[in-house]
Amino acid sequence: MNDRAPQQTRGGSAGSQRKVFGRRSADPLICMCNEVPKSAIDAAMRNGATTLAEIFDQTFAGCGPCGGSCQPELVQLLSDHLRRCQGQ
Ligand code: FES
Repeated sequence: MNDRAPQQTRGGSAGSQRKVFGRRSADPLICMCNEVPKSAIDAAMRNGATTLAEIFDQTFAGCGPCGGSCQPELVQLLSDHLRRCQGQ
């Protein structure tokens, strides 16, 4: 294997890798470990999630093998969502 070749982290085929990359531009992955896109986080919040635990319950985002490196971004999305809700 060429050491300079791109490494596939999920899926196993080049097609699935392109699919993940294509989705990132329109719907970025927030949780790489569990492949949770921003649209799923938004849907969870619209569905009533107001805590990280509730987002996890609905999407599995935030508790992966990396130890939760996406949690700061989840907190930011949650804060923005709650701020928007309070402004209505
Ligand atoms: S990126 Fe979300 S838990 Fe690892």
